[in-house]
Amino acid sequence: MSSPLRIALIGAGNMGQQHYRHLKSLTEAILCAVADPGSQAAALAEEWDVAYFADHCQMLEQARPDAVIVANPNNLHVQTALDCLAAGVPVLLEKPVGVNLDEARELVAVSKATGVPVLVGHHRRHNPLIARAHELVHGGALGRLTTVTALWQLRKPDSYFETPWRREAGAGMLLTNLIHDLDLLRHLCGEVVQVQAVTSNAIRGFANEDNAAVLLQFDNGALGSMTGSDGVAAPWSWELGSGENPVYPRQADQPCYLLAGTGGALSIPQLKRWHYTEVDGGWHQVLASTQEPVTADEALRLQLQHFVRVARREVEPLVSAADAARTLALVEAIRQAAETGRACAPSVIEG
Ligand SMILES: NC(=O)c1ccc[n+]([C@@H]2O[C@H](COP(=O)([O-])OP(=O)(O)OC[C@H]3O[C@@H](n4cnc5c(N)ncnc54)[C@H](O)[C@@H]3O)[C@@H](O)[C@H]2O)c1
Repeated sequence: MSSPLRIALIGAGNMGQQHYRHLKSLTEAILCAVADPGSQAAALAEEWDVAYFADHCQMLEQARPDAVIVANPNNLHVQTALDCLAAGVPVLLEKPVGVNLDEARELVAVSKATGVPVLVGHHRRHNPLIARAHELVHGGALGRLTTVTALWQLRKPDSYFETPWRREAGAGMLLTNLIHDLDLLRHLCGEVVQVQAVTSNAIRGFANEDNAAVLLQFDNGALGSMTGSDGVAAPWSWELGSGENPVYPRQADQPCYLLAGTGGALSIPQLKRWHYTEVDGGWHQVLASTQEPVTADEALRLQLQHFVRVARREVEPLVSAADAARTLALVEAIRQAAETGRACAPSVIEG
């Protein structure tokens, strides 16, 4: 058996600590260093018994990790990942892949040119529940996919917005939260070719959206709608429905995605399916339903295990920089559609 992969953590805040919690449960990898200029980070590195650096470039040079997890603020993602690629070190980069498409494209190009892999942290794709939904949709269980309904409606407490950057333009739920749902819709339902959108900040009045309605046109002809709000006392979201993260009390019977096709329908995360048992069954016949016993597993742990294999060049990243850049392009198209009142197409990302 090969020796554990030595992984360094750049950014030991909320998300970095979650990665550490899962990393220490793995036998195939160990944490070897922390790089974070923040005031808590040196004490964490001491507690975790690993080398501490304020600067990640110094860490790359001296600790020489086999791979790196980048969980620092969004606007540092691309430059930090580029520094890792220049050192030949594979990266698990938290989402979003970058804050704009130009820098995301640069990362895609450098990852391709150097051959050093980047896995982007759209971790929900690693959830077995999503893997099964993907298998059902792509295996034809729904017939021709026709309508897609996505819900992300919950309430963040006022205290969440005491952190100043969370009230600033660009840091709203589109880039922070709905990006995960949009990534899953691309993964499950196919690429989106056009969007229309309306956003509003009427609940809190901050510089970013707290309410959004989006229309999606998929390249396979399916049509979708997504409604999102982080200011409503409602139970519909992946976070509340899936049970993936125990910090959110679960609403197990409430769906967040409803996919319907000519041959059947599927609610996620329940994995409840409907279909007619008679040939040419219609609304006068009983619509039979079944539910599969797939439980949400620790997607972050599964993502880390996948990353170890990516870093060892055993598999391609499930979410490459180019793939994540396409999700970012979709977010940008929605923002542009909301600003202009026009239908917009996501920018094309090569690679
Ligand atoms: N996958 C998910 O579901 C998910 C959830 C939450 C956050 N995130 C992402 O994780 C990232 C971090 O978010 P967070 O909630 O942990 O934020 P956070 O503020 O808790 O942590 C950020 C950390 O980065 C450190 N940092 C700042 N500048 C740095 C630098 N130059 N080099 C290294 N470290 C630096 C800070 O000191 C802090 O410890 C963000 O990109 C966010 O989008 C992802």
